[in-house]
Amino acid sequence: MSKDFSKVVIAIDGPAGAGKSTVSKALARELELSYLDTGAMYRSLALKASRAELAPSDEVGVAELMESTTIEFGHGDPQPVFLDGEEVTALIRTPEISEFASAISAHSAVRRALVARQKLLVEGGGVILEGRDATTVIAPAADLKIFLTASLEERAKRRRLEFVQRGVEGNFESVRQEIQNRDHRDITREDSPLKVADDAVIVESAGIPVDEVVTKIKSLLDSLVS
Ligand code: DC
Repeated sequence: MSKDFSKVVIAIDGPAGAGKSTVSKALARELELSYLDTGAMYRSLALKASRAELAPSDEVGVAELMESTTIEFGHGDPQPVFLDGEEVTALIRTPEISEFASAISAHSAVRRALVARQKLLVEGGGVILEGRDATTVIAPAADLKIFLTASLEERAKRRRLEFVQRGVEGNFESVRQEIQNRDHRDITREDSPLKVADDAVIVESAGIPVDEVVTKIKSLLDSLVS
């Protein structure tokens, strides 16, 4: 009898550019699960806050903004993201919004507001979620927890390529520096820093084709879910 994965929860964490989105989307497609991009929620709130001319350091202001904010996802690749009903899929991927999102993600009040929404989206199961605290805070009881990683050089190369494909400016050195800064913030923030959960499986993605990474994660899931 084939296994029923329809209610599983797979949580994937890892640093920027490790391939979490690509791998999560491919897995979601193959396993017919929904895909939750938690970083897109930080990015959407960052966009709204920057439009409202709030400073990234305004923890209370940004967190309060979330109370009157809806963030929804559509279907497709890239996955459409809607902020208060407006499609913002491309607008949240600029270097400026990446920086803003990184800065606001350090605030506990902002994290609390987003984690509460994210937990609700994961509650019923049947979902693959990715982020920085997916395995440690949002879904610590996930069926499978993965820490996807690659070297800084490799991640910067990939990110640069993504920018080129989208027609966004960015030379290698500045992309590398930006990723390094975000790594530093993700790892050193006091609230929910990026770390490997005790029972997470570390998966190296450098130089490994996406379908091989996906196959590896599927076989891990197979061995865990009866
Ligand atoms: O994964 P991403 O690059 O789209 O995430 C955008 C920013 O949000 C990034 O700086 C890390 C932060 N983030 C976070 O702190 N926690 C998450 N669960 C997801 C993203």
